[in-house]
Amino acid sequence: MHRVSKLPFSLRTALLLIAPVAAGLLAACTPDNNQSTFGTAGPVASDQADLFIFIFWIAAVVFVLVEGAIIYASIRYRRRSNSDKLPYQTHGNDKLEITWTIIPVLILLAIAIPTLTDIWEQQNGAPTDKGEVLNVEAIGHQWWFEFRYPDHEVITANELHIPVNRPVGFKLESEDVIHSFWVPKIAGKVDMVPLNDNYLWMMGDEVGEYYGQCAEFCGIAHAHMRFRVIVDTEEDFNAWIAGMHTASDPPAAGSAEASGKNLFAGNCSSCHTANSTTPGSYAQEISSQQARWNGWVSDIENSGIVSAPNLTHFGTRSTLAAGVKDLNQESLIEWITDPSTIKIGTRMQDHAAIYNTADGKAKLADAEISDIAAYLLSLKPGSGAMGETAAISSGDTLDGPELFATNCAACHSTGDDKIVGPGLAGVGDRAANRVDGLDADEYLEQSLREPDAFIVDEFTAGLMPSWEKLGDDSIDALITYLKTLK
Ligand code: CUA
Repeated sequence: MHRVSKLPFSLRTALLLIAPVAAGLLAACTPDNNQSTFGTAGPVASDQADLFIFIFWIAAVVFVLVEGAIIYASIRYRRRSNSDKLPYQTHGNDKLEITWTIIPVLILLAIAIPTLTDIWEQQNGAPTDKGEVLNVEAIGHQWWFEFRYPDHEVITANELHIPVNRPVGFKLESEDVIHSFWVPKIAGKVDMVPLNDNYLWMMGDEVGEYYGQCAEFCGIAHAHMRFRVIVDTEEDFNAWIAGMHTASDPPAAGSAEASGKNLFAGNCSSCHTANSTTPGSYAQEISSQQARWNGWVSDIENSGIVSAPNLTHFGTRSTLAAGVKDLNQESLIEWITDPSTIKIGTRMQDHAAIYNTADGKAKLADAEISDIAAYLLSLKPGSGAMGETAAISSGDTLDGPELFATNCAACHSTGDDKIVGPGLAGVGDRAANRVDGLDADEYLEQSLREPDAFIVDEFTAGLMPSWEKLGDDSIDALITYLKTLK
């Protein structure tokens, strides 16, 4: 102990600094760490880990032999203090040279065979002999992950459900960023690149929730690009898919959720869809995403819309903001109030009209934000009494805010902000005085049925479709809702 205390100060400091860093790095080797590649939960990751261990031991043996030879030679043949004699000079030993050429060739061959086998098995698409392949399209965005299940017409974000022991074939795409898609315990990692589809397959062989992580520096939010993979039993997975096709129960009149639903329709629904449960909603969401992208890319500085996660059954998720926070009322309020405190670089704050304030915080009262959070957390599969098809023909769709969110919000804000069309705050009052001989109801009805009949100055004819197809009752419900916008 006496000796240790005599270590020079700088060395002790260095040890004190290095020890926690080394401990931190070694913690990643703990198999049960969430992001450790050693505790694997699927064949792709375990083949990759086995290959790593195999190469590691070969490298370790080479290291010990080479370093041992160097240490032995430098001690055995070191210069003696009392001798000026040159050692025996040699070059061109054929036996030695052939030996140290052949040994590395054999080592590299031993490494190449399993490496190429693994690459071959893992790069050739999902194997069909391990069970029915589930197809998923994973799309990178700034700054979130979108997941589409084309076979099931389900669309979601940041939390991916897959069935246990079934191969999942991924098509990896990206809209506007290069992420590296990685689920350390199950498979990884392949880049998501714009305009160039990549493919990856994985299979989870243990039910559980696994961490996903962007593994490549992609920009300001790189450190916050997480996602979750939930490996379900086949039964739970089917229930999840069925749930994604079951509408949420409408909130009780007068509840916080009902107020939140209206506020969401008015302030959030231009970018976020929250009701993709009906047949046809999958295709509609894909075209809405495209429209949001087109709207954003055509005017990146000023666009009021931007690609955004689909929030259908958001209340069933366990995380917020691409896996960064646990999802609860408190974290959701924090997120809606000032999203960049949770995720720097979020485009929501740059583009959504409600953040167009001096300090960038939402221009909503605390109670309003709390209501929106309550509404979002209430988004879960409903009782199913009004199943997929019933919801379309029943009174459910005669909900004005819902009709507005589904059909109008992509182009119209409920405030003063222009998106594609005019902001609709106070539209009822304006409508009453727009055309002589037409009252507000008549003006609004004609504008919905025949949009080009009256075009407001500065806006272009031919963009708005006729909403005749919604039917008389829905048009009435929409007009009633529009007149409430102040
Ligand atoms: Cu995406 Cu780092």
